[in-house]
Amino acid sequence: MMRITLRLIASLVIVAASVSFIFSGLQARQEQAHLEQELSRRAAVLAESLQESVEPLLDGGKLDGLHRLVERFADRERLAGVAIYRGDRQPMAMSPRLPVEFQIAPETARQALDGGGAVAGFLTLQGQRWHLQAVPVRAPAGPPGALVLFHNADYIEARGAAVWRHNFLRLLLHVLLISLTTLLIVRWYLTRPMAKTVEWLRRLRIGEPADQGALPHEGLFGPLAREVTHITKTLTVARAAAEEEARLRHTGASRWTPERLKEHLRTTLEGRPLLVIANREPYMHVRQGRQVRWIMPASGLVTAMEPILRACGGTWIAHGAGDADRETADGSGKLRVPPDEPMYTLRRVWLEKQEEDGYYYGFANEGLWPLCHIAHTRPLFRAEDWRHYRQVNMTFAQAAVEEMRGMERPYLLIQDYHFALLPRLIREKRPDARVALFWHIPWPNPEAFGICPWARELLHGMLGADLLGFHTQYHCNNFLDTVDQTLESRIDWEQFAVNRAGHTTWVKPFPISIPVEEPPGGEGPAADAAVAKEAVLKELGLQTRWLGVGVDRIDYTKGIAERFRAIERFLEHYPEFQGQFVFVELGAPSRTLIPRYHELGAELDAEAERINRRFQTRAWKPIVFLQRHHSHEAIQPYYRAADVCVVTSLHDGMNLVAKEYVAARADARGVLVLSRFAGASRELRDALLVNPYDVEQVAAALHAALTMTPEEQTERMTRMRELLRERNIYRWAADLVAELARLRPVRERLTNQG
Ligand code: G6P
Repeated sequence: MMRITLRLIASLVIVAASVSFIFSGLQARQEQAHLEQELSRRAAVLAESLQESVEPLLDGGKLDGLHRLVERFADRERLAGVAIYRGDRQPMAMSPRLPVEFQIAPETARQALDGGGAVAGFLTLQGQRWHLQAVPVRAPAGPPGALVLFHNADYIEARGAAVWRHNFLRLLLHVLLISLTTLLIVRWYLTRPMAKTVEWLRRLRIGEPADQGALPHEGLFGPLAREVTHITKTLTVARAAAEEEARLRHTGASRWTPERLKEHLRTTLEGRPLLVIANREPYMHVRQGRQVRWIMPASGLVTAMEPILRACGGTWIAHGAGDADRETADGSGKLRVPPDEPMYTLRRVWLEKQEEDGYYYGFANEGLWPLCHIAHTRPLFRAEDWRHYRQVNMTFAQAAVEEMRGMERPYLLIQDYHFALLPRLIREKRPDARVALFWHIPWPNPEAFGICPWARELLHGMLGADLLGFHTQYHCNNFLDTVDQTLESRIDWEQFAVNRAGHTTWVKPFPISIPVEEPPGGEGPAADAAVAKEAVLKELGLQTRWLGVGVDRIDYTKGIAERFRAIERFLEHYPEFQGQFVFVELGAPSRTLIPRYHELGAELDAEAERINRRFQTRAWKPIVFLQRHHSHEAIQPYYRAADVCVVTSLHDGMNLVAKEYVAARADARGVLVLSRFAGASRELRDALLVNPYDVEQVAAALHAALTMTPEEQTERMTRMRELLRERNIYRWAADLVAELARLRPVRERLTNQG
């Protein structure tokens, strides 16, 4: 580094010196020329005026007068003297201190004598520079002569030298400053950050804990640091995965990991890429001021499906709903994602505004969503919305068929209630495709579903799939009952299959999950929670002993108002927690163009405000309601910090927040309060299960959670974590795809027999 710095300084000095040299030369020359001109001008004026005084003295040879005059003009400023020469070049009168060489008229005087006009010039005599100004003089009756003024011109040379000296000193100062500044800049902005980065990488390489904050995140090294951090994360994950693989091999356990799933799908799909269709895209580009940035939308579906695509690659077909989505995709709507670490393809499908209104906001979210969730919000069914729903299903079918081009027996995983008609549409165009439809929300009983005017069409569309997945067996049963009561078909209650017009659809539960990352070095100490809590509280400017957290899309099915009221009751019943417990609700705005959702945000604000006003003191309030999008990374510290996580869905297919909380608790602490109407309650039996409508019960559960002994917390949490590790998202995907691969031959056999 020192050598580079020296080279840098040397180059800068050479450049500065060359520039200074050129400009000093020019400046000295200009200055000298100016002084010479000035001297010539002054000498000419003086010579002219002396000429007039001398000529009368010549008349009659008044030598005394001439001598007095030349003596008077000797040694005046730079005028060294005056001489008057006769035509024979001998002096008539001459200032006494002029050098003897001037006893004979110099060339300039002769030229004036000969030419009859003024002549000026420089000459050097014994190392001294002279300026001579000669004018002819003549008395009316006398012989011609020449008057010469002798100026000492040494000062002009001296001035030039002074310019050089001055500029040299200035250059020296520049060189000093340039060297110093270069040294400081190199040291502060290059050497130190580089040394830090190198040290950080070294610690990472040898497996020592490296502090993220130690990396320079600003300035020149900012982008590099960001990339390095990224690589590190990938490396840490890869290392943890390898450790986990090794550990599992060692213990003989057969846990599902991304690598194992990748391998499994490679064999099962025989090299075909995985195709996924979901309305919601995993990465949405949005405009913020002049900048475009990407976000991962708040969606359980995205949380679950994204790690699968990351592990196995493939294509995710989704509605491009972000306001900067078009400019970030290519001509066919495609881009590689994650944007900062491309691993699979996202194909965006473009919809007209009316289509989105009718299909997404209308039929899917004002019709099917409340139809399938028993949350006491009436479904709205409009013929116009249904028309758009059908149309958009066809548009997606078209996109899927394009993606399947050139693929034999492609595998397609369709997601959720936005695409009930899609399996049939695909089957019609690609009978060889293996199609699964996974329904991420509950399936109600036949009476509830029966109110939908297009119930038959929906079921017919769904039964185009080979495999239908729900989160729970209960939802599968409801579905089969619904088919039984609505459509002509043959149901095999032993196999859980429906045969309609020669095509068999298997209906099975696949409880969805999340990836459970093993923290490097195994389960963390309880101190992690204390550190996280301190950081979270500091960020929010709060002080409290106990912290509760809720994470939801702002949706009427999530029971957020019920949760707030349970907190109110809890503080009433257990006043010792007033001032000691804060509940932070991280609520992501969702589907806000639908009036019911729009109103809900305001209602919840008002409810939190009402409860806060009842209890709050100057330094404390019980509910902090943060209505905005929170990234996955931003939510993690809240999970790690919270003594209790509260999930009070009135009805929920699975609810992955419950699982995320458990997954985040590597310290095996904290308590989950969970609605028994969420699918997750079937698996997470060690949560405190509640009926969210029963405010008293939820308040009691909160109390039980906050007073639970650390031992009991650890026991419960450890069991739940073990279960999640076993039933993670990789296993879910592997089961679903394996089932799809297994079913088709059976289906073909059944069809042939039938
Ligand atoms: C539920 C649905 C998902 C949906 C998510 C977010 O989890 O099952 O399909 O993506 O809600 O809702 P949104 O309408 O914003 O996609």
